[in-house]
Amino acid sequence: MDGLEKYFGPVAALTGVSFTIGTGEFVTLLGPSGCGKSTILRIVAGIEEPSRGAVTAGGEVVNDTEAGRMTPPETRDLSMVFQSYAVWPHMTVAKNVAFPLRYRKVPRRERAAMVDDALRAVRMDGFADRYPHQLSGGQQQRVAIARSIVARPGLLLLDEPLSNLDARLREDMRIELKRLQLELGLTMLYVTHDQAEALAMSDRILVMDHGRVLQEGTPEEVYRGPESLAAARFLGVKNTFGGTLAGPGTVEVLGRKLPARVVGEAATGGPVTVAIRPDGFVPASPGGSAIAGEIRLTEFLGQAYDHEIDVDGVTLIVRTAERLGDRGDAVTLGLAPSAAVAFAEPPEGEPGG
Ligand SMILES: Nc1ncnc2c1ncn2[C@@H]1O[C@H](COP(=O)(O)OP(=O)(O)OP(=O)(O)O)[C@@H](O)[C@H]1O
Ligand SMILES: [Mg+2]
Repeated sequence: MDGLEKYFGPVAALTGVSFTIGTGEFVTLLGPSGCGKSTILRIVAGIEEPSRGAVTAGGEVVNDTEAGRMTPPETRDLSMVFQSYAVWPHMTVAKNVAFPLRYRKVPRRERAAMVDDALRAVRMDGFADRYPHQLSGGQQQRVAIARSIVARPGLLLLDEPLSNLDARLREDMRIELKRLQLELGLTMLYVTHDQAEALAMSDRILVMDHGRVLQEGTPEEVYRGPESLAAARFLGVKNTFGGTLAGPGTVEVLGRKLPARVVGEAATGGPVTVAIRPDGFVPASPGGSAIAGEIRLTEFLGQAYDHEIDVDGVTLIVRTAERLGDRGDAVTLGLAPSAAVAFAEPPEGEPGG
């Protein structure tokens, strides 16, 4: 994808998006509703035309707005899975899955074996003769996925394929999809606004906002090293505070001097916004730069506890493996190494603003 722009009348859906997907790679577009994720997928699929830019697949230019060239969707070696279970209700599971093969004129003898393989891959063998109304939602989505992989497309596009499933099934399917990708060596472009999904499955994540890519990297890179306040917020940083840059690698925030990684050009003594992940705090002894506060709320999450802690009228969200205490208890906290990031941006988080 090279310099993709897309305008719907006055709406700028994409304002210059460039990225590459390697063979066998799992790339995720992560971003809030309306940031342009589906528009990218639709352009790659060939069902939407970019206003400007080029798309190249396997060395072949499939979109070139300069040359006015656009390869139709059916000749692009890809398939797409949608959020809604797009299976044909009047066809059995086997017929649904065989559809792309019939379309590609694969001989009948080979078809049956390929359908069996695809159904086995999504653990739906034994369901071949059922109709979609005889399946659960999760099973229908598996059929849709089997259909998308049966012809072994060069690229698989998935637009929030798990968001209609319940939480438990979503987690199971997340692992199944990743297993399929690894076992079959599939190249995937995956769309989600669920950061947990993106972190769990991707080789590389593109964090998007307002029609552009804010940041690109491995899940660890984008989670641990957000390059903008918007990216930090989108990756689950809930604590952001206005502060000042006290010196190199030191910020003054919440009335204390704390170590922080500084992103952007901030002048010493100048304003910064400090972001701290909920899991960036550790219990500490009082005194020094320790943060003293009072617990407002403790929430048990299963593997961890979330605490809402009042620090001089400011609320911190703090996640720890052990319970820090109950409502009304006093706590003192320190920062885990490299937990705080200071952005040379105003707290409103408008990039460049
Ligand atoms: N056919 C269209 N006509 C006008 N505006 C459109 C059209 N399709 C998309 N848009 C606009 O383009 C922007 C990007 O839409 P897109 O569907 O790509 O977002 P998205 O990131 O997939 O969001 P979601 O997570 O809600 O699915 C939105 O502002 C949307 O309203
Ligand atoms: Mg969408």
